[in-house]
Amino acid sequence: MNFLWLSCTLALFNLGLTAAVAREVAPGDWPGFGRDAAEQHYSPLADINESTIGRLNLAWYFDIPGTVLATSSPVAANGVLYFTTGYSVIRAVDGATGRLLWTYDPRVSKVAGKRMRAAWGSRGLAYAFDGRRGSVYLATHDGRLIALDAGNGRPRWIVQTLEQGDSRYITGAPRVFNGTVIIGHGGADFGPVRGYVTAYNATTGKRIWRFHTVPGDPAKGFENAAMAMAAKTWTGEWWKFGGGGTVWNAITYDPEFDAIYIGTGNGQPWNWKIRSPQGGDNLFLCSIVALDAKSGRYKWHYQTNPAESWDYNAAMDIELATLTIDGRARKVLMQAPKNGFFYVIDRSNGKLISAEKITKVTWAERIDLTSGRPIEAQGIRYENGSAIIWPGSAGAHNWHPMAFSPQTGLVYIPTINLPGVYDDSAIDRRHWQSSKQMQASFGVNIPSGDIPLNAGNSFLQAWDPISQRQIWQVPNPGLFNGGVMATAGNLVFQGQPDGRFNAYAADSGKALWGFDAQVGVLGAPISYLAKGRQYVAVLAGMGSGAAMLGSPAQQFGWDARSQKRRVLVFTLDGQASLPTKLNRLPEEPLTDTDYVANPEQEKRGDAAYSTRCHICHGIAGIAAGSAPDLRRSPLLLNSDGFRDVIQHGTRVGLGMPRYENLMPQDIDDIRQFLRGRNRASGDAAKGVATNLTP
Ligand code: HEC
Repeated sequence: MNFLWLSCTLALFNLGLTAAVAREVAPGDWPGFGRDAAEQHYSPLADINESTIGRLNLAWYFDIPGTVLATSSPVAANGVLYFTTGYSVIRAVDGATGRLLWTYDPRVSKVAGKRMRAAWGSRGLAYAFDGRRGSVYLATHDGRLIALDAGNGRPRWIVQTLEQGDSRYITGAPRVFNGTVIIGHGGADFGPVRGYVTAYNATTGKRIWRFHTVPGDPAKGFENAAMAMAAKTWTGEWWKFGGGGTVWNAITYDPEFDAIYIGTGNGQPWNWKIRSPQGGDNLFLCSIVALDAKSGRYKWHYQTNPAESWDYNAAMDIELATLTIDGRARKVLMQAPKNGFFYVIDRSNGKLISAEKITKVTWAERIDLTSGRPIEAQGIRYENGSAIIWPGSAGAHNWHPMAFSPQTGLVYIPTINLPGVYDDSAIDRRHWQSSKQMQASFGVNIPSGDIPLNAGNSFLQAWDPISQRQIWQVPNPGLFNGGVMATAGNLVFQGQPDGRFNAYAADSGKALWGFDAQVGVLGAPISYLAKGRQYVAVLAGMGSGAAMLGSPAQQFGWDARSQKRRVLVFTLDGQASLPTKLNRLPEEPLTDTDYVANPEQEKRGDAAYSTRCHICHGIAGIAAGSAPDLRRSPLLLNSDGFRDVIQHGTRVGLGMPRYENLMPQDIDDIRQFLRGRNRASGDAAKGVATNLTP
């Protein structure tokens, strides 16, 4: 055997493999949600840095029309910026000037028809340099995966990734790697949904493989050995509820192991006692699952919450790094799921390296490193009635991405500190069924009253993933905070719900720069080059989960219709400025002198509202930007007009879903509940809740 020959061939083979597997992303591009395969939300650009940041100013802005969700992350390639807002309307703009190049509107509400679900819009896109002019990939609410010609926005192919008649929808960003595009879906909060991810050929749209995250009906046979194994951890007739485990956000491709890591969501229902009545861990709920990228075959998994019962998604972003731990270089993945721990996991085998609490966590004492399992606290499964637990279902970290800087070795986590109250005492667990009507289907009661302003807080923290401890933290206003980007200029950028967009020194947390965006900023920023200049881009707009949380969200005064959603783009010595501030909506209550309170009806209306409408119109009727504040809607005084919007779908094109199954009586109950809320807000001081029951 000629060893020289062998090693040469191996070297060539390795080179070829590296080129094919992980096309190096040019420093000036940001083609994926987290930029490149490692999903670090880190830019290697450093013209904008600690010393020059004083010169950072607005270069241009782009006004986004409509009452649409604008909390997504753009992508950038070859100096062009692509972004999605609302129901996957994509725009391409010149990265240096903001000039509109093309718009593609997949006409989601028309195509979706009855499939239009009560969920928010799209969170991101993917760009692939595929040898032609490049392709932009987007996934729509109604389940289509679409490849567009990046040059002109014309579709190259369209496939439907969901099954007929189910209650899935897509809000997440597709990921592209190696000629393959992969997408998951959401929906396990609202109906009987069984999670899966599907991989397609990026050039043709042909399906390559699909991996289900939870087992289906055993009578129909299992798709693969992983499902047969997972089924041993379920009891009862779980498949009737779908089981959940949707991959609605985190998908990371690892070129070093040719693996895909998916982060799975909550169970359907959340309540384990209903879902799997004789116990069991319920794989692969709340797990990180590694799959072979070529075949979709199961490699390993790590479950953050065995027997999940609190909506503790492990669907938050999964970021890759090589860290030196105890003198050894370890290829790790990092995740801060909702449950409040920060996990560092060995990518070669899925073994837990470390896990520590990043904020107040009461559901578990710690994670046992030998078994990888949590040491749970007493009473957290609400077996003794109502349980107050930190964190709650908003999570200690939600989908707004964290960032990892290879330069500082730190992770920057937008952190939420808010408890949840869980109670299933009034629920008939034996006869419970998943909803089929677009309403929250948790199997556990969540209190419906307003959230007090002081119920919790939020902050940005720098975390050392090796020593597992906090290095610095800065407070954020309100309960929810924006996604994060780190850069090689020793900078960390983050938006806040009060309308500030800030930069901090990545090593010390020192506040270095800030901008008044005139509206809450929640999307994660990106950085790119256009004509040789470095730009920082972020979408400004208040919406999604951050706008749902009652008074703490509404305190900043952003209104769904009058807020200005924008793309804001900054550069050194930028010369643009925003037009004069818009006035916020007046906070005076609606004049409704005829209203006669009927507590019974208001109570029924509260229950109907709090399982259907609150995700957009806000908890307790207090809205903060996703949709209008219904307490002030003139339609409250017009029973037919109110019913038309809800039952006949007259505003579906504007993002208001159709509830054709709601009975006129239910709709009237909701209307009366909102009239009662309007009266309560008239009695209250501006923006401060009257009903402070947590
Ligand atoms: C997925 C988000 C979403 C959900 C869920 C939702 N809405 Fe809406 N709704 C909207 C949006 C966005 C608008 C604004 C449409 C427009 O621009 O006219 C709206 C508008 C309305 C309006 C018109 C208000 C006005 O003054 O013009 C009413 C009434 C309304 N919704 C009632 C409800 C009720 C009742 C529910 C629950 C049964 C509900 N909505 C659930 C998003 C939502």
